[in-house]
Amino acid sequence: MFNKKTIRDIDVKGKKVLVRVDFNVPLNDGAVGDDTRIRGALPTINYLLEQGAAVILCSHLGRPKGKADPKYSLKPVAEYLQKLVPNKVYFASDCINEPAEKGVEALKPGEILVLENTRYYDAEEKNDMAFAEKLANLADLYVNDAFGTAHRAHASTEGVTHYKSGVAGFLLEKEIQYLSGAVEDPKRPFVAILGGAKISDKIGVIKNLLNKADKVLIGGGMANTFFKAQGVEMADSLVQDEALETAKEILAAASDKLVLPVDVVIADKFENDAATKEIPVEDVPAGWRILDIGPKTIEAYSKLVAGAGTVVWNGPMGVFELPNFAKGTFGVAKAVADSNAISIIGGGDSVAAIQESGLADKVTHISTGGGASLEMLEGIVLPGVAALEDK
Ligand code: 3PG
Repeated sequence: MFNKKTIRDIDVKGKKVLVRVDFNVPLNDGAVGDDTRIRGALPTINYLLEQGAAVILCSHLGRPKGKADPKYSLKPVAEYLQKLVPNKVYFASDCINEPAEKGVEALKPGEILVLENTRYYDAEEKNDMAFAEKLANLADLYVNDAFGTAHRAHASTEGVTHYKSGVAGFLLEKEIQYLSGAVEDPKRPFVAILGGAKISDKIGVIKNLLNKADKVLIGGGMANTFFKAQGVEMADSLVQDEALETAKEILAAASDKLVLPVDVVIADKFENDAATKEIPVEDVPAGWRILDIGPKTIEAYSKLVAGAGTVVWNGPMGVFELPNFAKGTFGVAKAVADSNAISIIGGGDSVAAIQESGLADKVTHISTGGGASLEMLEGIVLPGVAALEDK
């Protein structure tokens, strides 16, 4: 299923290996907030070190727009990594030029060098070949383990492979195996749960999953646009009017597979302490808005999830950041965790919900990719993966 070479297929002993990781992690006052992506890269890093390689790590962090902005420095991430591995971790204040070259020259097998943010150069996002060549020339071998950035054709994910053929790391391999396995060869019934505010962000995903899944359960603000497309009064609820025609087309093509909420939680204002009611979808009064799915919907969705062979979940069921409208999202998180299905969760809010529920270890695979996991669900071949050597 995964037809790319991996680090198992190459000899790295005594080699300097450039590894593109996705260390784009949240920083709170300069300290690493969520370390999931750093831990996710450890199997690859540790394997390379054990095999006798010197490991050069490169990544972007945030969107510094081609400028060296200390707010987006990878230095705190390098310091954090040092706490997770016994091997020596060095930091280079530039991802190319003298700081990087000197750091690489001094690097010994079993040691790690973290390069400064690749997006300090706009050449990174432009996939500039001269920049890519400089990165590639730092090392003997190139490995891509940055699943979260594999949907970007950037110099450090794609360009670099024009100068040094690349293989996949273990995280990239695992992510693709789970996500493409779920979509292309699911254990049935295959139930997908899609939430979030806007249909327009997920049209491609909805269309692809309606072809592949047995049921696609919809929650979050995007359900409202489907309801309005069916002529149901949505009052002050968020509706994406420009997507109504698309919603109608999707409903006409796939109404038997597409499952919409039967009841909702409404509020009289967009605030946590708003007055609330649980009502059937058809009964939203003037001046009120839908902010979550209702208890009957949670029950119905939970039943479908319980009977599934494969479950994929992306996107919150309501305004999850307001605690009074997070029940739907937490209810779905519980259902996914309780099911015996192969379960895969992607996207920031759904991953946060499962982690906050303390149920993350009951899920088969939690993706480290946001946009990348969505593109996989859409059936798109990711450029960072396509660029790697075939088996
Ligand atoms: C992500 O967080 O989704 C990846 O690191 C990619 O970041 P980007 O959206 O800024 O390209």
